[in-house]
Amino acid sequence: MKFFLDTADLNEIEEAASWGALAGVTTNPSLYAKIGGKLGDFHDHMKKICEIVGPDCPVSAESVAMTRDEIVADGLKLAEIAPNIVVKVPTMVEGLAATKELAKHEVPVNMTLCFSVPQALLAARAGARYISPFIGRFDDISDDGLAQVANIIDAINNYDFTDCTCKGEKVEIIAASIRSANHVTQCALMGADIATVPFGVLKKMVQHPLTDRGLESFMKDWEKVQNA
Ligand code: G3P
Repeated sequence: MKFFLDTADLNEIEEAASWGALAGVTTNPSLYAKIGGKLGDFHDHMKKICEIVGPDCPVSAESVAMTRDEIVADGLKLAEIAPNIVVKVPTMVEGLAATKELAKHEVPVNMTLCFSVPQALLAARAGARYISPFIGRFDDISDDGLAQVANIIDAINNYDFTDCTCKGEKVEIIAASIRSANHVTQCALMGADIATVPFGVLKKMVQHPLTDRGLESFMKDWEKVQNA
């Protein structure tokens, strides 16, 4: 499983990148608004993220256009920012049509706001490189987000979509809207390719109370060795 950071915060990205396990970044309009992002700075900000993580780490930048032609135009401009930009497109009819067109231009697409198996299958057929099923937002409405994602992973893995993606690559599932380290555990067990996690969840993933307790006792015992 690869880990992406779900944030637009440059400090969080720099810190997570230094930990050695970061494979990409996903952003969305809400995450950009959360850091006080301004419309005119959007492309520059995405460029900074691309530079921090380096050319091998995909960075998802979301199109806010609502028609296929506008999404394609927006996506092509976003793709000019850096070679590792992935255009994030909502799962809807206009988004599917735009994804097909962007794939023809060899622009990778991350289809977002995916909540069902049929939506995921259509996204893969349209040529999406990544599909982002959301977990937490299902839980928010008292549904079982993990069970929904498990179905999407099983359905996508039943087929080979490499003839649909822009460069013949495997479609990868990004488990998104992750709210806890347990979500990550369950997604890994069900074989999600990628988990995109907020920085708070990434920090929790490192922690375990037995690690803290073990470290404390090792340190105490080492003091005894030094004073012996
Ligand atoms: O990147 C999209 C997704 O991860 C959003 O998560 O927590 O806003 O449902 P959330």
